[in-house]
Amino acid sequence: MIYYFSGCGNSRWLAEGLAEATQDRVCFIPDAIIHDAVVELHTGERLGFVFPVYAWAPPNIVMQFVQRLQVKHRPEYVYLACTCGDEAGLSERIFRKALQHKGWDLDAAFSFVMPETYINLPGFRLDTEENEKRKLEAAQQRLTEVAERIRSNERACSDMKAGKASWLKSKVVQPLFQALLISDRPFRVGSDCVSCGKCEEVCPVGNIRFSSGRPHWQHHCSGCMACYHHCPINAIQFGRHTKGKGQYYFGHRNA
Ligand SMILES: Cc1cc2nc3c(=O)[nH]c(=O)nc-3n(C[C@H](O)[C@H](O)[C@H](O)COP(=O)(O)O)c2cc1C
Repeated sequence: MIYYFSGCGNSRWLAEGLAEATQDRVCFIPDAIIHDAVVELHTGERLGFVFPVYAWAPPNIVMQFVQRLQVKHRPEYVYLACTCGDEAGLSERIFRKALQHKGWDLDAAFSFVMPETYINLPGFRLDTEENEKRKLEAAQQRLTEVAERIRSNERACSDMKAGKASWLKSKVVQPLFQALLISDRPFRVGSDCVSCGKCEEVCPVGNIRFSSGRPHWQHHCSGCMACYHHCPINAIQFGRHTKGKGQYYFGHRNA
């Protein structure tokens, strides 16, 4: 069983690709949360987790899900595959610790460098078209290779790009980032909003409601930026630093 979270499609692509290559089942974490996940693994079935890296750590929704997940019978093989724009920091260590609290361990961890979706602060922007293409080609090749390693239940495997100063980023910057910058309060919608409802449809955590033809954020945002990137007319902005930076979601670019 592969549990995944994704806002802009990179991690969904990875989860579905791994599921196909390893003949595993796949489940979207927000759906599993609604149904209060209790999973009965088949004999020998692997347990995989796929998610994007947010501020050099797994997203909060993924950490909360792992704490609540109940598995009948101990999983034989557990792995994570995360996607990041550049560096995963200590995501593996943080996730492993959460699993150890449940009495499980992580057998393998893989990071995939994929197109960037974080553009909210000055200095953060989408990849160039060339870089995006290069990342997607490399990720496709890596998926085939990693799927083979998962199929053979490769153990004691840490194949992650942590990056420099990862302790500082994951342990010091991440809590500040989470507390101050994972918020939907800076979202604004322009008068050009056509009330199409796309933002409501793509929000993975049901955080957007429409009233009077306008989106209203409900203050339980995961920070994924799906609403910004999917708006067909780019009418949604986050604070003052996203204007003119373009949009990306897996299979689509508007920059
Ligand atoms: C709130 C937020 C924080 C992010 N933090 C990081 C990070 O610390 N390191 C990194 O390399 N990429 C970071 N990214 C980029 C995403 O991890 C990357 O683009 C990922 O593939 C997006 O996955 P998704 O399309 O499944 O949502 C961040 C993106 C968002 C929206």
